[in-house]
Amino acid sequence: MTPEELAAVGLRYDVEGVVATVTLDRPEVRNAQTPRMWSALAEIGDTVPDDVRVVVVRGEGRSFSSGLDRVLLDLAKSADDPESVVGLLTRSAEEISETIDRFQKGFTWLRDPRFVSIAVVQGHAIGAGFQLALSCDLRLVADDALFAMKEPALGLVPDLTGTKPLVEVVGYSRALEICATSRVVGAAEALEIGLANVVCARSELEATLTDLVGALTASVAGAVRETKALLIGASARTLEEQRRFEREAQIRRFRELAALTPGS
Ligand code: CAA
Repeated sequence: MTPEELAAVGLRYDVEGVVATVTLDRPEVRNAQTPRMWSALAEIGDTVPDDVRVVVVRGEGRSFSSGLDRVLLDLAKSADDPESVVGLLTRSAEEISETIDRFQKGFTWLRDPRFVSIAVVQGHAIGAGFQLALSCDLRLVADDALFAMKEPALGLVPDLTGTKPLVEVVGYSRALEICATSRVVGAAEALEIGLANVVCARSELEATLTDLVGALTASVAGAVRETKALLIGASARTLEEQRRFEREAQIRRFRELAALTPGS
């Protein structure tokens, strides 16, 4: 997609060396999200260059993201929009499922083992904004960050792929409590429960991000990729399967290292 096409859906995308940055760029509505934005995110995911090692997802302005654009929940304003939530209500179960499946692809690409994804969260991360942050491997969080899974308060479930990482990160019981109450989780609590990997003052966000990206890219690229693939699949495998995956990954590492060693 061209920068103009991305701008039209409220996104910016830059690749600098081994770091790709996706910026939600609708600060006037606190980076509210739309299905068109999710389709564009999925397209970005399909075209990330192979040598990219870190993908940064961030929001322009005061907040990371205020979640779904509320226009899409408003019957009067968006009943004719085929991708609005109200537009979906009357469709067949199959059509609804296909549509949400497309929406979810805007989020799932961030788990690709080729790179480590980092959400940089300042201000609010609500609903779809919280789920976008959860789709990333790491969360770098400013001290003013406020997370809230607002969907149950609106009569909906979190369906943009956030429930699995939330359980994996904070555990089932805490995940249920956070979702069922739709309460706000601040930065200090986010750090305490493992939702945030790093918390810093808002004024130090850029410097902290630079340090984190530097540390992640200092390790050997192929080893980080293999390790992410091992870890991301670990909870779905038995110990027997997982140790086989470890052996197979290590053999690939040995082969690559041997190929790089002169005289081998
Ligand atoms: N959609 C559309 N516009 C939004 C928006 C949203 N989600 N969130 C904020 N805006 C707009 C406001 O209407 C306001 O517009 P005007 O300047 O024209 O009045 C502007 O952004 C600034 O908003 P605030 O003045 O409220 O800014 P704030 O910093 O004081 O508060 C906020 C920020 C806490 C995010 C608050 O705006 C808010 O609660 N927003 C709604 C959050 C929400 O309910 N999101 C949907 C969650 S559910 C979901 O995402 C997934 C799903 O599937 C349903």
